[in-house]
Amino acid sequence: MTKHKFEAIDTPATLIREAILVRNITDMSQFARQIGINLRPHIKTHKIPRLARIQVNQGAVGIAVSKIDEAKAMIDGGIKDVLIADPFIGQEKISRVLKLSERAEITVTADSPEGIKVLGRGARDKGETLKVLLAVDCGFKGFGILPGEDVFTLARSVQEEEGLEFAGLMTHAGHSQGAKNPEQVQEIGKKEGQVLAQLAESLKNNGLSCPRVSAGSTPTAKVAGMVKGVTEIRPGNYVFNDLAQVSLGVAMEEDCALTVLTRVVSRPAADRCVIDAGSKTLSLDRGATGETVFSGFGKVKGHPEVVVSRLEEEHAILSIPPESEIKIGDLIEIIPNHAGQVMNLAGTVHVIRNEEPWEEWEISAVGSK
Ligand SMILES: Cc1ncc(COP(=O)(O)O)c(C=O)c1O
Repeated sequence: MTKHKFEAIDTPATLIREAILVRNITDMSQFARQIGINLRPHIKTHKIPRLARIQVNQGAVGIAVSKIDEAKAMIDGGIKDVLIADPFIGQEKISRVLKLSERAEITVTADSPEGIKVLGRGARDKGETLKVLLAVDCGFKGFGILPGEDVFTLARSVQEEEGLEFAGLMTHAGHSQGAKNPEQVQEIGKKEGQVLAQLAESLKNNGLSCPRVSAGSTPTAKVAGMVKGVTEIRPGNYVFNDLAQVSLGVAMEEDCALTVLTRVVSRPAADRCVIDAGSKTLSLDRGATGETVFSGFGKVKGHPEVVVSRLEEEHAILSIPPESEIKIGDLIEIIPNHAGQVMNLAGTVHVIRNEEPWEEWEISAVGSK
């Protein structure tokens, strides 16, 4: 019997196909370069400084993060320009951000008078100036101020707050993940770019310079990025892609760089088997619409007939046709629904080069605050 090429990898394991990863990174970099826009990848997806360096070496102007510990891990790994793309509150957090600003160019995000005051006080106490992007809601209904008079009021209050510098606007169209078809993704992306670009224009007409206009996540980056006035896109998931992106029509299965490798540990009945990866590896994520184009918790590569139908914490139950030849000990590879969730649960990834295990990389920014 020939040995499986990944036999030596202990399971469950998270795999990254290097060739697909590099192709995805290059594709987005080329897009940004061709249309003359800045690319600032969101690294919450991978949390690996080495991977962020590859993105920067391929032309990204810097990175976006959600958490301050993510920023620290990336700066420790040599990244010099970081946008903290989620508003944060708390003295401890602002102290950490100001410490990081001694080593890298940091921009923070705010969407409230309270947030602006806290940032301003912190920066003043340290005698520093922090760049601030105002977060605007383009329809996601998460954080971000609604387009309107409040944007002008808050932009002015950033400008007037000693210790802060108004650097521009940002928005995140997270609702694109729930789009019902590719046309809806396009519509959302277009609106995302237009809302922000129009606001930036109005701010300028009112005497407020708005140098940075940051929009565009993986589903919408190539649409929002085309809108005149948008200066920067922040896709994250594109490095790996996943079934959610395949379902949106943004990527194909062949573009998915990340998989979970697992072993069949039991076949207690003809129509099911059990594998050694459960919700603690694959996550319970079923995509923003509750279901991807493939039913269940991922797609088993090479076995379209199999459904990852139920997850326990450490095991998954696969529904299989009774005549299936899948047996105990077989290696099963699953494309996950949501790559970022899988990375957040994994400690390391096995990088696969030329279909052989090549290197194991640490995911250093997991558990970030
Ligand atoms: C503020 C912000 N920008 C950009 C992104 C990147 O989104 P995606 O991973 O879909 O590309 C995210 C992800 O949630 C985000 O929260």
